[in-house]
Amino acid sequence: MEGQTVTTAMPRIGDKAPSFKAVTTQGPIEFPEQYAGNWVILFSHPADFTPVCTSEFMTFATMEEQFAKANCKLVGLSVDGLYSHIAWLRTIKEKIEYKGMKDVEVKFPLIEDITMEVANKYGMIQPGEATTKAVRAVFFIDPAGVIRTIIYYPLSLGRNFDELYRVLIGLQTADKFGVALPADWRPGDDVIVPTAGSCGVAKERMESTEMTCHDWFFCTKKIAKDEVLKAILKG
Ligand code: BEZ
Repeated sequence: MEGQTVTTAMPRIGDKAPSFKAVTTQGPIEFPEQYAGNWVILFSHPADFTPVCTSEFMTFATMEEQFAKANCKLVGLSVDGLYSHIAWLRTIKEKIEYKGMKDVEVKFPLIEDITMEVANKYGMIQPGEATTKAVRAVFFIDPAGVIRTIIYYPLSLGRNFDELYRVLIGLQTADKFGVALPADWRPGDDVIVPTAGSCGVAKERMESTEMTCHDWFFCTKKIAKDEVLKAILKG
């Protein structure tokens, strides 16, 4: 790391996503500006031509359309170079068969970050885990370019893609319906109504048939799965 400036400040939930320009397998990008109006998942992986990352890329690529239906684009990053990225993605398409996935083409951009400039900006290099590789970071960025959720996994553990999709749908549901979501929420489960601002409202709610109040501060209501999905998914 000699001669390199390492930024240790990490972006946090609620911050504007730090801007950068980079080269990717799909051409140059200006991040997050060119994603304005879309949700975007920016994620890092430790290294090309490694098994856990390969299983993850095949899964991301297989789910790309599912994320797109929720107005979400994918952008990957590792500290490898562009030619390594291209060779690895070609190997995945031409040679790898895994869990029923084969002939998998990764169509979303994969950023080359040999200088680690972007990885450092986003706190993806976590020296206790590795100084020369990014950890498995996942940033959920909203259409206004604000970071809404951050999840980190270590080198040895592949991400849970059901959870990544659940987080995306949950964030959009919370925004669209003005609600919060309880533990393990999935579309169709009851949602949490914001806590009442006065005793009067709290009392009304406790007596309401439209909500279930477990106490004055904890009321839930139903939103049908179809209503959630119709509000979020395209087509
Ligand atoms: C993997 O993706 O398999 C991997 C990458 C870096 C360290 C350990 C595992």
